[in-house]
Amino acid sequence: MEVLVFEDYDAASAQAARLVETQVLENGQSVLGLATGSTPLGLYKALIEGFKTRGVSYKNVRTINLDEYIGLAKDHPESYHTFMSKRLFKHIDISLENTYIPDGMTHSPEEECQRYEAVIDNVGPMDLQILGIGTNGHIGFNEPGTDPTSLTHVVELVHSTRASNSRFFPSLDEVPTHAVTTGIQSIFKSRKIILLASGKNKAAAVAQLLSKEISADFPASFLWNHPDVTLIVDKDAYALVQTEGQ
Ligand code: PGA
Repeated sequence: MEVLVFEDYDAASAQAARLVETQVLENGQSVLGLATGSTPLGLYKALIEGFKTRGVSYKNVRTINLDEYIGLAKDHPESYHTFMSKRLFKHIDISLENTYIPDGMTHSPEEECQRYEAVIDNVGPMDLQILGIGTNGHIGFNEPGTDPTSLTHVVELVHSTRASNSRFFPSLDEVPTHAVTTGIQSIFKSRKIILLASGKNKAAAVAQLLSKEISADFPASFLWNHPDVTLIVDKDAYALVQTEGQ
């Protein structure tokens, strides 16, 4: 795992954007694995800027998102479909038919998981996967205890995840209880992975990750077993890492 530490969130986001743009400029038909949440917002802003000012095109790029809440319609204000549309897709030249996100309104979540894993295999694998990290070490919605061999599956969200995401909903009760998420093994199909973390509230998670202890109790730690992971953090998120000599 390569670790890159930047002064602040904007600098970390700019570096992530440089890596994504390099991938897209090298191969205009790249498959990008995308994440939602607060963390990648700066990255997406920088990619929009790159499209508008430097003409980086996403015309033939395909994207595969990590997860979606079960029970939210695509046009629900807090669905990840809406998030991706508002925060990235409608501002760049990507074709919406080249963007993949699990269907949270499926009648059969189990079938949707199988369908989505087939998307990863047939459209993907992802050339470059963007990940955030939960304070409990989750990646995608792979909560502590997730099997490292997991493919796309239905997950019951733990209380801390629902509480954290309730900031976007009128109340905690309205945060969905379940989601479809790509699994650890699905994420591992990616050729390259960029893990992003910023801010003091991620400092303990980053320190835990960099202790290199691999455990299902902290799913992001499985990333130590992937051959090409770059962790991009700002100083606040790196603050609790014990470096040699300290
Ligand atoms: P955040 O979420 O980017 O909103 O902090 C990250 C995550 O929970 O994976």
